[in-house]
Amino acid sequence: MRSGYIAGMFDDDYDDNPFEPGAGLPPPYLAGREEEQAVLRRGLGRLLHGRAPSHDYALIGPRGNGKSALLAWFKEHILHDPGVAGRVDVVSLSADELGTKRDLYAALLPHSEWEDMHIESRVGGGVSAGALGFGAKGQVDETAVKGHLPLTDYWLREKLINRCKDDKPLVALLDEAHMLEKNVGRVLLNASQKARSAAPFMLVVAGTPGLKAHFNGLDAMFWNRLDEGEMGFGLLTESAAMDALVEPLKKQDITVDTNALSACLAETECYPYFLQALGRQLWRQHTRTDTPTLTLAGIERALPEFRRVKENYYAGRVQELVEQTLIPAAAATAQLFADRAEATGPEIDAVLRSVLPAVEVPVARHALRQFGYVWQPPDRGVHPPWVPGIPSLMTCVLTAPEAKAAAAPPPEIRAPAGPFP
Ligand SMILES: Nc1ncnc2c1ncn2[C@@H]1O[C@H](COP(=O)(O)OP(=O)(O)OP(=O)(O)O)[C@@H](O)[C@H]1O
Ligand SMILES: [Mg+2]
Repeated sequence: MRSGYIAGMFDDDYDDNPFEPGAGLPPPYLAGREEEQAVLRRGLGRLLHGRAPSHDYALIGPRGNGKSALLAWFKEHILHDPGVAGRVDVVSLSADELGTKRDLYAALLPHSEWEDMHIESRVGGGVSAGALGFGAKGQVDETAVKGHLPLTDYWLREKLINRCKDDKPLVALLDEAHMLEKNVGRVLLNASQKARSAAPFMLVVAGTPGLKAHFNGLDAMFWNRLDEGEMGFGLLTESAAMDALVEPLKKQDITVDTNALSACLAETECYPYFLQALGRQLWRQHTRTDTPTLTLAGIERALPEFRRVKENYYAGRVQELVEQTLIPAAAATAQLFADRAEATGPEIDAVLRSVLPAVEVPVARHALRQFGYVWQPPDRGVHPPWVPGIPSLMTCVLTAPEAKAAAAPPPEIRAPAGPFP
């Protein structure tokens, strides 16, 4: 028999809704990323044969498109797929945990490498000694000794190679990689390149559309030669978006009729985060009415709550643009995309020049890309077009009071009234 607390929790409060709107949460059904999954599985296949892939992997796309979800899927696959489980190690990291090179070393190497390691750290000119991990992030010089061996980037590479050769192949997953500190990023990418030439090591990073520019600035070797390892994460196709909604509902014996599905696609724009948010409302709607088929009428009942979630999300994103003083640039870009789906770089620059001094244009374009407001999907050829991250965010920006204020002509300056000529 359940205890009172547990019984109460299960009966009244437990939420068995399968949809997972939010950051980094794997969805109940990972839709439309089969190609990316196959690319990662191929890399893993090489590791299982004792060889490294010939490049790193980068998942690049605007926020909310499923980069973290794919990393989570890959980790699960490595840990639990019957052909892989127990044969490959995996570490998952986020760039905000790697403030210094020492954080990186500790993340990539087993604890046994560190337990008798003593660090000689220079803090504010003085020298202190302690075990690894002591000392505030970013405040210390990264000089360490094990016996009399200095802790160097070379040391990391050798240890990484030994780990992958002598123990098990290693996959390192790094999320939010566009935030990686420059000196840490340089060491990581160079260590990956060296390790791959000698041992089964695989690096998968995920970041927003400014990631490549960020990494290009690190002087890391070979970063531009990613081949199939560079994967763009845009909106889902319509058929994948339908699967994202229909498959989890199907498991609960709920079907959705065709008209209702079309309405769902129009509302969500095939944006993965919105699909989860709408799915959650549809589920709630179903549990209230308990009908086996969701019709257009059922969807319409779920829409007000979903639209509220969407509006809150947009309000947050517009606020970020306001804080970064990007509203004039974002509004001008939105005008450009009002009647088209794509634009060239020079076209974007031309509209930005209409609202900004010429010297500020490259910075604004970079910032809008970093934000995921517009971006260039890497799988769209040598000169990929610029496309919106989420088209309807642009409509929202145009109606924001800040955009209207930016577009309004400056107040007329009247000559003071009085006896002056
Ligand atoms: N392929 C997919 N099918 C269905 N839902 C998905 C898919 N990918 C992601 N989602 C859902 O979309 C939402 C956003 O996904 P996720 O957090 O992975 O995006 P992200 O690209 O990592 O965003 P950010 O840049 O903000 O970290 C989550 O609720 C996730 O469950
Ligand atoms: Mg993420």
